[in-house]
Amino acid sequence: MGFVKSGAQQRAAGAGGGGLREEMIDGQRLVRLVRIPKAELHLHLEGSIEPGTLREIDPSLSLAEIEEYTKYEDFAGFLRAYVWVNKRLQTPEHYALALRRLALTLAAQGVVYAEITLSAGVILWKGQDLDAIYGALWEESQRAPIAIRWIFDAVRQFGAEAARPVVEFAAGARERGVVAFGIGGDEVRGPAREFAEVFREAREAGLRLTCHAGETAGPESVREALAIGAERIGHGIAAIEDEALMTELRERAIPLEICVTSNVRTGVVASSEAHPLRRLYEAGVPVLINTDDPALFGCTLAGEYELARRLGFSEAELEELAKASLRFAFAEPDAYGASGSEQAGSSGP
Ligand code: ADE
Ligand code: ZN
Repeated sequence: MGFVKSGAQQRAAGAGGGGLREEMIDGQRLVRLVRIPKAELHLHLEGSIEPGTLREIDPSLSLAEIEEYTKYEDFAGFLRAYVWVNKRLQTPEHYALALRRLALTLAAQGVVYAEITLSAGVILWKGQDLDAIYGALWEESQRAPIAIRWIFDAVRQFGAEAARPVVEFAAGARERGVVAFGIGGDEVRGPAREFAEVFREAREAGLRLTCHAGETAGPESVREALAIGAERIGHGIAAIEDEALMTELRERAIPLEICVTSNVRTGVVASSEAHPLRRLYEAGVPVLINTDDPALFGCTLAGEYELARRLGFSEAELEELAKASLRFAFAEPDAYGASGSEQAGSSGP
């Protein structure tokens, strides 16, 4: 999905963007990347649903219709496509099916642990029963071949009041796998400062905090996310424009959840070569490799590691990034079968 690219998107991808096209793929190297145990920490359930699964959910949909509604030219168009997919999900079983498919894909990518973001704010906006939907997801996640925990996400442009019930539900589901609260959507229309109170409530309820920021807006958006207590930043690529901010991220060990193909496909960077991932890493900013919305962006996690290799990371560095992905998990290490001492022994970016 993102299944059909526009001309502009194809040009961007051809420049290295979604990109494993230009160079022959070295199969053995890709297999090595797949085999490294790793975590996926920035991944939206609703953005992972492939066309075939969407058709199982709604058999009246044709592939042509799915392609039509999931085409986009820019970030605003991407958000519309994302909402369109969300609206197809009508029952707890639809969500559970999406998770069943995603968990298998993750296991096949060498992912041993995933923190999956659920657009809980969208579920409430649709007027659906969040309790029934999350109940089905929690049950399904316990049958999955990998360890899964959940991040509940509110929508920035819906405002702070709409985010409050998301926090309340997430806080009440901490014993059932919810580890964090976050905000996504349009950072320009919903600045982080408006969510200060909601983030405080989430933290006091024992939830960890993440925040999409510095994806479509500038470094000041990342600063606002830090000011309201974000412990990880979704994307955060605008930090490259601000030396002092990079120093702060480095010194406070706040990681950026980097999603290279996502940024190329939404047009916030011109090409994968233009992506600041390597420069952020060289500046000592902790970075993590993720897919964001793999079906809508046509990417895989091992493919994102391969893309990072092309951007200058050695295989040893990629292994370090994989270790870092586990170390920056919000869950305790025993959630994915690692002991505390193994965690402490891993070195970071
Ligand atoms: N929701 C799903 N993907 C997103 C992204 N890349 N940015 C903001 N919100 C999102
Ligand atoms: Zn995201």
